[in-house]
Amino acid sequence: MDRLSVVAARQPESVGRQVRLSGWVRTRRDSKGGFSFIEINDGSSLGNIQVIADGDLENYESEIKHLSPGSSITVEGEVKASGGKGQATEIHAASVTVHGGADPETYPLQKKRHSFEKLREWAHLRPRTNTFGAVMRVRNRICRSIHEFFQEEDFLWIHTPIITASDCEGAGEMFRVSTLDPANPPRNDKGEVDYARDFFGRASYLTVSGQLEGEIYATALGKIYTFGPTFRAENSNTSRHLAEFWMVEPEVAFYELTDNMSLAERFLKRIVGDVLRDCGEDMDFFQQRIDDTTIARLEKVTGGKFQRVPYSEAIEILEKSGQKFEFPVSWGADLQAEHERFLTEQHFESPVILYDYPATIKPFYMRVNDDAAPDRPTVRAMDVLTPGVGEIIGGSQREDRIDVLEARMREQDLNLDEYWWYRELRQFGTVPHSGFGLGLERMVQFVTGMSNIRDVIPFPRTPGNAEF
Ligand code: 4AD
Ligand code: MG
Repeated sequence: MDRLSVVAARQPESVGRQVRLSGWVRTRRDSKGGFSFIEINDGSSLGNIQVIADGDLENYESEIKHLSPGSSITVEGEVKASGGKGQATEIHAASVTVHGGADPETYPLQKKRHSFEKLREWAHLRPRTNTFGAVMRVRNRICRSIHEFFQEEDFLWIHTPIITASDCEGAGEMFRVSTLDPANPPRNDKGEVDYARDFFGRASYLTVSGQLEGEIYATALGKIYTFGPTFRAENSNTSRHLAEFWMVEPEVAFYELTDNMSLAERFLKRIVGDVLRDCGEDMDFFQQRIDDTTIARLEKVTGGKFQRVPYSEAIEILEKSGQKFEFPVSWGADLQAEHERFLTEQHFESPVILYDYPATIKPFYMRVNDDAAPDRPTVRAMDVLTPGVGEIIGGSQREDRIDVLEARMREQDLNLDEYWWYRELRQFGTVPHSGFGLGLERMVQFVTGMSNIRDVIPFPRTPGNAEF
């Protein structure tokens, strides 16, 4: 007897096989004829499988007739063709073993639909719902595509550190890692906390981006990517910010900004294409239950070419749009989600790559544009904006000229000594190079149409929330 997953047992090819399969009860319905229909799900697919349990099974009266949603069971029996709607197969049970019941009085996931807000309080049970199962399967498919894409293009996956001393984005949004006793930390003569006596002998933090370390490896090995958790202590309670999120960051030596744009476009097309091909059942669910524009939005990604628009032109479009924005737009301002959504949802109606942003709103490492107007200095930054989410990718060509880099660092009040190794990459065999970061959760939001980022990661970390 083979152990089968629900998704395998649902395939017509499984008809006739004797199988063993386990999962959690979604519903039970008793027929007048003295038998029961039990729908079970094991997370392998959105769809359940129907089990028919006969009244003459030895535990029928004592256990099977009391099975309620959330109970866990193992069924042995034969897969048969089913005449039921939406199912090719069903299981005729020879035995049903009950592992654990779930008291219907107290089990939170009853048949009625719960809001996503409510489900966030049950992070330990929400993966058992249709929506979270589908999100996690799609999230997993996206991760697989990320690795497949880069591996097939001969990128090396480089593991950059989680604990670091450098603030890549220069925004001061780092979580400090410390073993010092907060009630009584060692202090220097000036009364400041003395990090020299901490675990690493200096202040250290959770990384906000693996980019700077990624540049080290790209400028030796050519094409690399990092993929792992990153952390931002930004106190923004929005539907697209997390304190802990996953980022994939390719970095490529000898790439200019336009190469970087092409890489980002090919990369996003590949992921979306894979999901549309392989996650049909889950994607139909998102289309029907979450957002009926989901599939059309994704087909624009695989079908069309991404528009490439200079920041200055985007500002003009926004200024002329006649829209009333909460945050006013003018050249030099950072774009807010509402602006990004106007551009992608109403103006271009497709993903857009904005580039050449004002130098003042971008980090020190981006390459300065020599041909910019003197009163409007810009850097070779690029953001990929998508309908529904806004920015999903941020990247740039990196400043490879030591003098320009150091001038930018001074402008931004950075301590040059702390970046000595980053500067040496420009002193020893410097090369043009570029890269970008894709926020995994924003990508999952874009692909599924889920509106809140807290609902596309198993355990969302947001201000005031790190329970489990
Ligand atoms: O634009 P960001 O800040 O760029 C960087 O970190 C660069 N060092 C990347 C690089 O060039 N290698 O972040 C990149 C992406 C954003 O476009 C967004 O998708 C995501 O990371 N992101 C967040 N996702 C969730 N919660 C947050 N707080 C995020 N901050 C950024
Ligand atoms: Mg950004």
